[in-house]
Amino acid sequence: MLEGITIIKLGGSIITDKTVPFKILYDNIADIAEQIAKYGRRNLLLVHGGGSVGHYLVEKLKFNEKEAQDPKAISTIIYEMDNLTQTISKTFLEFDVPVVALQTHSIAFLGERGIVLDPKFILNWLRKGLIPILKGDIILGYDSLARVISGDVIVSELAKLNEVRKVIMCFDQDGIIGKDGSIIKQLSLKSNFEELIWSTGKYDVTGGLRAKLNAMAPIVSLKKEVYFMNPKRNRLLNALVEKEFKGTKLVE
Ligand code: IPE
Repeated sequence: MLEGITIIKLGGSIITDKTVPFKILYDNIADIAEQIAKYGRRNLLLVHGGGSVGHYLVEKLKFNEKEAQDPKAISTIIYEMDNLTQTISKTFLEFDVPVVALQTHSIAFLGERGIVLDPKFILNWLRKGLIPILKGDIILGYDSLARVISGDVIVSELAKLNEVRKVIMCFDQDGIIGKDGSIIKQLSLKSNFEELIWSTGKYDVTGGLRAKLNAMAPIVSLKKEVYFMNPKRNRLLNALVEKEFKGTKLVE
């Protein structure tokens, strides 16, 4: 029986330097892996973003979601994103956290009414005692077109599962920042998103903060907890063990 799963999104801004192509922030990844190792439980699903690997390549290779789609560009983006997953997996293994990398492009498809994804492929690994790690990726659609899919959409899809209780969105800010410059402890989905401050970095092809908040809205409506936070200084661990931590909670 799987219960009380927490999904952790490792945002591109925490695993890479979003301003420098391909610059991976190894120390941050190790810090997160160490906290998850200390947590010790395996009721987790991980999803990572593209940061300055995925977003940068989509722009540089002029990957287009509508017209002629260059197979080499698609192959390159998928290859480099898989490499990023491997780097993360290797670090987690170094901390004895048994992850299994599941390639989003192999198990997800865009149907006419949204993502088609059989949760068995993911939850069975959890039942086996491994922590699945998925990512933002390129997937194929019902119309034969390839599309960039943000890790946030994957998070939002998985968070609908009954077994999932909490979502922790990790990024490089202490929380979501209001126009007065301070961290908002509880952000209502009814608030004006235009007034929020968000450091996007140079490359972002999946819509920035607004898209992230929109992806989380249905999850908040399902009465699941959704937090945005910087995982540093044991904050992620504290969030996992229900201790006090700095961050923003999304509310209806
Ligand atoms: C982007 O994923 C995936 C690609 C660009 C291939 P995300 O949209 O989840 O990435 P971050 O977390 O915002 O960097």
